[in-house]
Amino acid sequence: MRTEVAVVGAGPAGLLLAHLLAADGVDCVVLESRSREYVEGRIRAGILEASTVDVFDRAGLGERLHREGFAHRGIHLHWPHERHHLDFVDLVGRGVWVYGQTELTKDLGAAHDRAGSARWYDVSDTALHDIETDRPYVTFVDDEGAAQRMDADVVVGCDGSFGPSRQAVPRDVQDVWQRDYPYAWLGVLADVAPSTDELIYAWHPDGFALHSMRSAHVSRLYLQVEPGTDIEDWSDERIWDALATRLGDGHDGWQLMPGPITDKSVLPMRSFVAAPMRHGRLFLAGDAAHIVPPTGAKGLNLAVADVAVLAEALRQLLRKHDASLADAYSQTALRRVWRCTHFSWWMTTMLHATGDPFDAQLQLAQLQWVATSTAGMTGLAENYAGLPLALEA
Ligand code: FAD
Ligand code: DHB
Repeated sequence: MRTEVAVVGAGPAGLLLAHLLAADGVDCVVLESRSREYVEGRIRAGILEASTVDVFDRAGLGERLHREGFAHRGIHLHWPHERHHLDFVDLVGRGVWVYGQTELTKDLGAAHDRAGSARWYDVSDTALHDIETDRPYVTFVDDEGAAQRMDADVVVGCDGSFGPSRQAVPRDVQDVWQRDYPYAWLGVLADVAPSTDELIYAWHPDGFALHSMRSAHVSRLYLQVEPGTDIEDWSDERIWDALATRLGDGHDGWQLMPGPITDKSVLPMRSFVAAPMRHGRLFLAGDAAHIVPPTGAKGLNLAVADVAVLAEALRQLLRKHDASLADAYSQTALRRVWRCTHFSWWMTTMLHATGDPFDAQLQLAQLQWVATSTAGMTGLAENYAGLPLALEA
C-alpha cells in the first residue's frame, strides 16, 4: 500500500494532523495499536488554550466544543486562609476552555468518519524503516493478523511517549532531557456537580490539590501523592477528606460537595524533551517528542501546537516542493516546547509540598506575589491561557 503521509498513533496529535492534511488534499493513513473505543474513552487532559480552540475552529471541528465546553475566564489560587481569582481575560485578553480530551478525540473520530479517511486500529508490531531516505515505510500486523507494509513520502510519529517512532531515531543524533518529579497525582472522576465555577489550584502543607470538571454534573479532581502510591490505600472517604482539607472546605463558607467516584488512577509526573523533532523523513509530534508534568495543563495543547505547525510544513513540502518550513519545524516547535516545559516546572514546583519548611515559605511568598502583583498574575495568565501560535511560527 502507498500513501503520502503515514501517521503512527490515533491520539489527538495523529487524528488532528491527518484531518488538517486531508483538508488540503494530502493523502494520509493513520495506524493505531489500540482499539478506537479505548482511545476515545481514555481519561486525560481537560483544558484547552485559546490557540488550541482556534485550531479546532479553523478546521471546522469546534461546534460541539463551543456548545458543550465551558469558557473560563481564569483560575482560583488557594492556600490556607487565602483564595484569589486570576482573571486571564482581563489580564491578557484570552481565557481557556474546559473540554475533555475524550470529547475532542470523539469529535476528531467523527470528522474522520464523515471524510471516510483511512485509519487502521488494533494494529501490532508497528516498525519504521528507511526514514533517512525519500521512500520511508511502516510495517505492521493488522487486526486480522496479516502482515502489512505502508510506503509513504513522510512518516509522522504521533505515538506518544512509548511508541516506536522516537526509538527509530539513532541515539547519536538525538538529544534527550529528562526530569522525574518526586510526586504523583491521584486523579478521580466523580458524578457530582463541580463545587466551583472555575478551577481551583491549591497549595497545602499536606500536598497539592486541584478541582477541575468535565460537565455540569461531573467533577475531575487531583491530589498530590507519593510516587508508587497504591490506589488501594486511598478509599473514597480518604480521598474526599484530603480534597476538602487541601481545597479549603470552610474557607469563607465555601464547601466541597462529595459524590460517587467513578474512576481513580495514579499519574507519574515527569518532564521529557527529545530533539530534534525530525530525522530525515520522520517527524515527531506531541507526546512522542515531549512530556510535561500536568500542573500547567500543557500536554494536549503542545501536541495541537506541534501539529498546527507541522501540517502547514508538510503541505508546503508535498504540494509545493518547498522544504523551508519542514526544515524549520523542529526549531519552531521546540521554542514553544521549552517555554511550556519551563511553565509546567514552575507551576509544579510552586504548588507541590516537598516536606521542607524552607521550601514551604518560599512557595507561599511566590504564591502571594503571583496572586497580588499585576506582573505576577500576568505572567501566569499569559502562559496558562497560552501563547498565540502566530508568535511561534
Ligand atoms: P497520545 O494521546 O498518547 O496518543 C498516542 C497514540 O499512539 C495512542 O493512541 C497510542 O495507543 C498510539 N500508539 C502507541 N504505540 C503505538 C504503536 N506501536 N503503533 C501504533 N500506535 C501506537 N495533559 C494535560 O494537559 N492534563 C492532564 O490531566 C493529563 N492527564 C494525562 C493522563 C495520562 C495517563 C497521560 C498518559 C497523559 C495525560 N496528559 C494530560 C497529557 C495529554 O493527555 C497528552 O499530552 C496528549 O494525549 C498528547 O497527545 P498525543 O496524540 O501526542 O499522544
Ligand atoms: C485538568 C488537568 C490538568 O493537568 C490541569 O492542570 C487542569 C485540569 C483536567 O483534567 O481537567
